[in-house]
Amino acid sequence: MNPSLEAACAQPLSPLARQGVAEFNRGAYFEAHEAFEAAWQAESAPVREMYQALVQAAAVCLHLKRGNLTGARKVLKRCEGHLETLPPRCQGIEIATLHAALLPLVEAARANAAAGRPLTEGLTFPRLAATPPQSFAGKVALVTGSGRGIGRAIALHFARRGADVVVNFFRNRAPAEETADQIRALGRKALVVKANVGEIADLDTLFEATEKAFGGLDILVHNAASGYNRPAMQQKPRGWDWTMNINARSFLFAAQRAAPLMAARGGGAMVAVSSPGSVRVLPEYVVVGASKAALEAITRYLAVELAPQGIVVNAVSPGVVLTDALKHFATFRGNDIIGEVEAATPAGRLVTPEDVAAVVGFLCTPEAAMIRGQVIWIDGGYSLPMRTAQEAS
Ligand SMILES: NC(=O)c1ccc[n+]([C@@H]2O[C@H](COP(=O)([O-])OP(=O)(O)OC[C@H]3O[C@@H](n4cnc5c(N)ncnc54)[C@H](OP(=O)(O)O)[C@@H]3O)[C@@H](O)[C@H]2O)c1
Repeated sequence: MNPSLEAACAQPLSPLARQGVAEFNRGAYFEAHEAFEAAWQAESAPVREMYQALVQAAAVCLHLKRGNLTGARKVLKRCEGHLETLPPRCQGIEIATLHAALLPLVEAARANAAAGRPLTEGLTFPRLAATPPQSFAGKVALVTGSGRGIGRAIALHFARRGADVVVNFFRNRAPAEETADQIRALGRKALVVKANVGEIADLDTLFEATEKAFGGLDILVHNAASGYNRPAMQQKPRGWDWTMNINARSFLFAAQRAAPLMAARGGGAMVAVSSPGSVRVLPEYVVVGASKAALEAITRYLAVELAPQGIVVNAVSPGVVLTDALKHFATFRGNDIIGEVEAATPAGRLVTPEDVAAVVGFLCTPEAAMIRGQVIWIDGGYSLPMRTAQEAS
């Protein structure tokens, strides 16, 4: 095994991609290329990009084996394009590391060609190392508001890693059933529960149904949110109550119901989905901002008070994610705010629901056990202060 390549193929790799990894590691680059390409065609972003990087890695090795140095160098150049456009870690694959292993390979082949030696003489072809996936096998996760958007990505993230999932919705049953079908297609159990998390009686229904179906709970993700978006001077008490109850109060009273179920299983994890409006001023966001600030405070209190029961509590705060939620903001209508955010994001792209899901998932692993009561921002660096040289002078 080439020790310089630590490229990690984490779950979820599709069966086709797994086959590709096996072919790659036995040096069957044509077959690996075919398998990765089929996996690539079957997937959507960001998994798709990951598989594309693997297609190219297989192509580089295949060209070299066939004595086509020009072809290998061309594909490697395309991989370099990936380095610029993709995050260094894309769904478990270290693209930068993969590239770092291919570059010396092609260089060595070039040196062989220049010296008139056979192209592949003395070359050590890289291998793809599969790391043990984050596993939630045997766990039960409840994700509020998981029919659509970020909540759906979080629910699927847990299901892909072995958890059974409670899918909660409020108004839209059809997408919630779709999420559940996708979970079942992954071989996991799914329970769909309609509940307005802003209503205490509905929270009772949600947790009773969870206990009845699964006998307990290990993970609670409070993702559901709603809000009255309008300027501060136009807000009404009803909008305040509605927003606070769904976004903030719900987490406290959901936690009261979740904690005993988790404690009975030796502990668990809770993650709340907040937003940058908790500390920043966003247009028409006053009540949602206040509710998210309250949510973050509740997170800290729960982290301390539930620690003796082995329950880890944290929050995440995503940047702009393209979901239906943005339709409710006048700012996003008719303006290229998305383009502006993208351009001002050091990571070079918008945050995806899967990015958020990956961090939420991590916060529920034993590796994250020493992170408590924190709000982790997931915004590609958008909120970091950046000034041009001109502005700074
Ligand atoms: N999108 C962003 O840019 C962004 C940025 C920062 C933070 N966030 C946060 O990320 C979370 C998810 O946002 P999203 O963009 O995925 O939103 P979304 O696409 O609008 O989805 C909202 C989800 O919450 C559910 N929901 C709403 N009210 C509910 C209630 N009272 N009880 C139960 N479920 C309810 C909805 O269910 P129904 O379909 O049944 O209505 C839906 O599944 C929210 O906490 C949001 O504040 C989003």
